[in-house]
Amino acid sequence: MNIKKVVVIGSGTMGSGIAAHLCNAGVPVTLLDLTTDISEKARERIYKSKPPLLIDKGKIKNINIGNIHDNFDVVNDADWVVEAVVERIDIKHNIYEKIFKNRKEGAIVSSNTSSIPIKVLSEKLSNEEKKDFCITHFFNPVRYMGLLEIVKNENNDLNKINSLKKFCEVELGKGAIICNDTPGFLGNRIGVYAMQVAMTEAFRMKLSVEEADAVFGRPMGIPKTGVFGLYDLIGIDLMADVLKSFIKELSDKDEFQIVAREIPLVKKLIDTGYIGRKGKGGFYRIKKSGEQKILEAINLETGEYSATKKIDLGIETVDIKNLINRKDKFGEYAWIVISKIIKYASSLVPGITNKYNDIDEAMRLGFNWAMGPFEMLRSIGVKNFFERIDNFKNNKFLENLSKTKDENFYGERQLYTEIQTLGKIRPSAIKLDKNNSAEIYRFKDFNIVEFTTKACALDYDSMDALKNATDKPLIVINESMQFSAGVNLSYTMNFADNRDFKSIEKFIKYFQDTCKTLKYSKYPVVSAPSGLTLGGGFEVLVQSNFVASHTNLVIGLVETIVGLVPAGGGCKEMLWRWSQTEEANLDPDFAPLKVFEIIGYAKTASSPIEAEPLKYLKPEDRKIMNRNSLFEEAKKLIDLNSSFVPPEECKFKLSGKPLKDKMIKILEKSYNEKIILDHGMHVGIELANVLSGGDTTIDKVVSEDDLFKLELESFMRLIETKQTQDRIKHTLLTGKPLIN
Ligand code: NAI
Repeated sequence: MNIKKVVVIGSGTMGSGIAAHLCNAGVPVTLLDLTTDISEKARERIYKSKPPLLIDKGKIKNINIGNIHDNFDVVNDADWVVEAVVERIDIKHNIYEKIFKNRKEGAIVSSNTSSIPIKVLSEKLSNEEKKDFCITHFFNPVRYMGLLEIVKNENNDLNKINSLKKFCEVELGKGAIICNDTPGFLGNRIGVYAMQVAMTEAFRMKLSVEEADAVFGRPMGIPKTGVFGLYDLIGIDLMADVLKSFIKELSDKDEFQIVAREIPLVKKLIDTGYIGRKGKGGFYRIKKSGEQKILEAINLETGEYSATKKIDLGIETVDIKNLINRKDKFGEYAWIVISKIIKYASSLVPGITNKYNDIDEAMRLGFNWAMGPFEMLRSIGVKNFFERIDNFKNNKFLENLSKTKDENFYGERQLYTEIQTLGKIRPSAIKLDKNNSAEIYRFKDFNIVEFTTKACALDYDSMDALKNATDKPLIVINESMQFSAGVNLSYTMNFADNRDFKSIEKFIKYFQDTCKTLKYSKYPVVSAPSGLTLGGGFEVLVQSNFVASHTNLVIGLVETIVGLVPAGGGCKEMLWRWSQTEEANLDPDFAPLKVFEIIGYAKTASSPIEAEPLKYLKPEDRKIMNRNSLFEEAKKLIDLNSSFVPPEECKFKLSGKPLKDKMIKILEKSYNEKIILDHGMHVGIELANVLSGGDTTIDKVVSEDDLFKLELESFMRLIETKQTQDRIKHTLLTGKPLIN
C-alpha cells in the first residue's frame, strides 16, 4: 500500500494539525470542512500557529482546501481519508456513508475520535468496508506529540494496518501503537486517571495547588505544568466533558469512576467562567496590578485566590524512589498518587493491551512523561513496592508479580517498534561513567553521552563527560525532551554571586577546550538533537563533526538575550560557516556582519528548514521526522565514517577596527530607534569586538584560539556587570528576558 494522497475531513484543531503534519511529510493533502471559508481559516491558523505546526511555512499552499459539498471528488483518488469532524456519532456516520460511496477501492478510512469505540463507529459499515476502516488517534499538537494510537476492528486487513502503521512511523515520525478498542485507549485512559488521582488526593490531603504541582511534575518526570496547571491548559470545561464520557463508557466497578466524581469547586469554576487559560483563569490566574502581573493560585478549600508561593522540593531531576521515601506530606502524596497509578494501569492489562510497556510509551509520547507507570514500578523496585502496597485483589498483573518478585520483570522497551532506539539499546550498553550532569555509555565500539540535568543544561561535569568520551567515536544524544537549553545559568550565577569570577572563567575555558576536543578528536563525534538546542547546547552541536537532527528542534545562539555573547566557540563557528560562502569571497566583512546580525538578534529557528538559511544547520546534516530514529541515524553516520579524518583547523581573515566601527554604526542606529537600550549597546559592542577579530588587520591571520580568547574576554567583561547579572537572575526567576 502506497499513501500518496490524503484527504482530511474536518478542519478544526485536529484536522488542521493532521493536514499540516502530512504537509510536513511532503504528502499532498486536501482539507475539507462544511464550507471552504472554514477550511481557509484553518489554513490561516496553521500558518500563524505557535509553536509552528509547519516545518516549512513556505509549503502552506501544499495544503489544498475545499468543502464537502463541492469538492468531495478529491476523495475518489485519495489513498487515505482521515475523518476529524466533531465528536458526534450521527455526523461521523453520515460522513462515512459518503466516503465509502466515493473512495477508491482499498483506500484506508480512519477516524480521529478520542472516545467513540470502533464498534460503534463502524456499525453501519459492510464487512468489506470494515476491512479498510480503523481509528488513528493523533494527539494535539500533532507535529509535536509523538503518539499515534491505532485501533483496529476484527475485520481489518492486517497487512494494511501494518503498512499504515509503518507509514505513520517512517513518514510522519509517530510512535504508532496498536491498541484494543477500549474507552480512552491507552494514553487518555491512564493519563486522565492520573490527573484525577493527583487532583482528588490534593483535595483530600489539603495540599495547595502549588504543592501538588511541585510533586506531580518534574520530580515524577511529568511536565512542570503539573496537574492543576495542565487542567488550566487543557480547559477545565473540556476536562469535565472528557470525564463525563469516561463515566458513561466505563463500567460502574471501574476505579476510574471514583476519581471522576464531580468536585464542587471545579463545577463552580466552570459555572463562573474560570475554565482555564482560555477563560478568566482557572486554578491559576493572572492578576494585573498597575503595570505588574501577579500569578495567583486558588485555595482549594476556600476558593479564594492569592499570590503563588514557590515550592522548592530540592529535587531537580526525576527521582521517584527518593520522592516516595520522603518523610513529609510531599512524600506521602507522591506515594499515594504513584501507587494508585501503578495499580490502575496494571489492573487494565491485558484488557486495554497485553503489551504493558506500550502503556509506558503512550505516557511518554502522549503526555510527555519521562517514564510510564511500569517503569515507575521498576524504579521503585518490586520488593519495595510490595512492602508498601496494600490491597491488589483481582489485579492479575500484580498478583503474578507479587509471587515472582522479579526485579527484572520489565523486559525490553518499546516493543511496538522495530527501530533500534536509545532506550532499547541502553540495557546492553556498558555504563562507563556517570557524574551529576551526564552519563557515558559504551555500545559496541563507540561511546554515547547523555546529559541528565534539568533541560540538559550544561556545566563543568557535562563537559567532563564529553571530553572523557572522545576516546572512541561518540554520539551525543538524550532520551529526555531537550538536547540542551544551554549553559546552566544558575550554576554560573552561584559563582557570580560569590564574586568568584575565576571559577566562571575556568568553566568557560573548559567548555572551549572540550568543544575543540570534540571537533578535532581522532574519532567522529555525532550530535543527535531534538527540542531545545540553544546557546551552549548549539555550541556542542556546531563543533561536532556530524549531525542527525530531529525535525522538531528550536536552535540558535540566544546569549545576547541575557546580556552575554556566545563563548564556547559559537561566534567562531558561525563566522567560519558564513565565511565559506561566495559573498564572503567577494567581501571580507560579509560573514562577520551576517553573524553579527544573527547573534545580535539572538535569532532562533524552529525547524531544520528555518535553521539552514541561518547556517545553524548544514544541508548535509540529517533531518529526521521520527525522534525514535535519531540513535539509528547517528549510528549510521559513525558506520559511514570508519575512515574519518578530523577537519583542518580554521584560519580567519578579519578587518579589525574598520569592521568594528561598521558594527557600532549599526548599533547606534538601533539605539537611536530605541530597538536596543544602554546595556544592549554594551553587549553589541562586545559582540562586535569578537566578530571583527579584535586587535587585528585584514592581512593578518586570526586563529581559532584567538577567537576563543576574544569570546572569553568579552564574556567575562559582561558577566561582571550588574546589568547582565540582573538579566540572568530575571530569566532564571521568570523564564523570560529582561529588557534594559
Ligand atoms: P473541532 O471542533 O476543533 O473541529 C471540528 C471540525 O469539524 C469543525 O471545523 C467543524 O466545522 C467540522 N465539521 C463538523 N461537521 C462536519 C461535517 N459534516 N463535515 C465536515 N466537517 C464538519 O474538533 P477537534 O478538536 O478538531 O476534534 C475532531 C475530532 O478529533 C473529534 O473526534 C475529537 O474527539 C478528536 N480529538 C480531539 C483532540 C483534541 O485535543 N481536540 C485530540 C484527539 C482527538
